[in-house]
Amino acid sequence: MPKIIFVQPCGTRREVEATQGNSIMEAALKHGVTGITAECNGSAACATCHAYFEDDRLSQLGAIEAHEEDMLDFTASERLPVSRLSCQVTVTDAMDGMIVRLPESQ
Ligand code: FES
Repeated sequence: MPKIIFVQPCGTRREVEATQGNSIMEAALKHGVTGITAECNGSAACATCHAYFEDDRLSQLGAIEAHEEDMLDFTASERLPVSRLSCQVTVTDAMDGMIVRLPESQ
């Protein structure tokens, strides 16, 4: 199981063992990681699962589909080049050790 490290805005880190095939959002909620709201439960319709990923690992996340691209314009915290909707990122073994930073607000 790949380890995903969630980092809160205050710097608090939480390492979880994620299940391959789940989304990053699901991995966070399953382990009680705070900072992801996921109001639409993974339908890419709320942008409350916004997260910042590692710049040099973006290629591991898969392409941004059009509906995700549109919703990323509605994040509560600033959209950055490393922003993704965590419900649209599927966990793979290659993501082991990946750092996912959570925004100030959702
Ligand atoms: S959970 Fe709503 S957009 Fe990801």
